Amino acid sequence: MTKKIILDTDPGIDDAMAILFAEAHPDIELVALTTVFGNVTIENGTRNALYLKERFKMAADIAKGASQPLFRSPVGPTEVVHGTTGFGDFHVSDNVSGQLDPRPAYQYIIDTVKAHPHEITLVAVGPLTNLALALEAAPEIAQLVAQVVIMGGAFGENDHRGNVTPYAEANIHDDPHAADRVFCAPWPVTIIGLDVTEESFFSAYYLDQLRHDAADVGQFIFDISRYYLRFYSQKVGLDGCHVHDPSAIAYVIDPELFITRKGAVRVVCEGPASGMTIQKLDTRKYQTDEWSSMPAQDVAIGVDAAQLLDLYQKSLIDYAHKQ
Ligand code: RIB
Ligand code: CA
Repeated sequence: MTKKIILDTDPGIDDAMAILFAEAHPDIELVALTTVFGNVTIENGTRNALYLKERFKMAADIAKGASQPLFRSPVGPTEVVHGTTGFGDFHVSDNVSGQLDPRPAYQYIIDTVKAHPHEITLVAVGPLTNLALALEAAPEIAQLVAQVVIMGGAFGENDHRGNVTPYAEANIHDDPHAADRVFCAPWPVTIIGLDVTEESFFSAYYLDQLRHDAADVGQFIFDISRYYLRFYSQKVGLDGCHVHDPSAIAYVIDPELFITRKGAVRVVCEGPASGMTIQKLDTRKYQTDEWSSMPAQDVAIGVDAAQLLDLYQKSLIDYAHKQ
């Protein structure tokens, strides 16, 4: 059955890869992109979302979201990874046409979830500020979503603990208070963190092939990924890039690709470990215990990377041939 998703995103190179994956796959109806600060400013990210809608003739609504975290001081755009405007060397013109939804992202999320009770999957691949604001304004949406899928966090599986600090992943580090609220809310969350996203790689060869086989969409992914590959080669020492945000979409399409583990999840909100995600794995009730009263959430700890890469490639090639 087709799943309706709202994709909350900070576009972003791997965000664009995820957006196009969601647009391409027939099992997903991409209802909206809601934007959030993160990889780039909210202005640049929102312009990038409008550009994708225009270039790929997407039906999705675009709603502009939060420009800063709930409480912490902003970390600032990650230019070293995504370039100054978010798509690496590929610059979107200032004159992108296309209408934004008039509502702020959090209000768009509330209204859409209420209009389609139990049908909307919220997929968030940036800082969780918009989701936290939606929960604050309308806590009842927690009972009305189908599910929540997050790309973020790191739990130490497969030795993956952090990418912006030794113990924090970027999306959670950008707004730890928002993440803690989202993980503690009474809705079903699946967390696709570095534990699995750093186990899959788009190699330079894979992206070359996609450019060859997937027409305009393959060319676009090739163009935006040049800068990203240089970052990975120069700073991480890899001939390819991790598959962060597209992994959250892969989970929506085929959860069987992943192994998950249940337990309440909290986020460290202050100090040097700010942004660290910690899952409680035992059933003991401690004298001081700020996990046990929280809902058990699913954390991905294993992935079939080969099948995930095949799914992405096939989805984009099939989509390209239908255009
Ligand atoms: O840590 C990876 C995440 O941070 C991805 O969502 C990427 O787009 C950046 O936002
Ligand atoms: Ca992202």
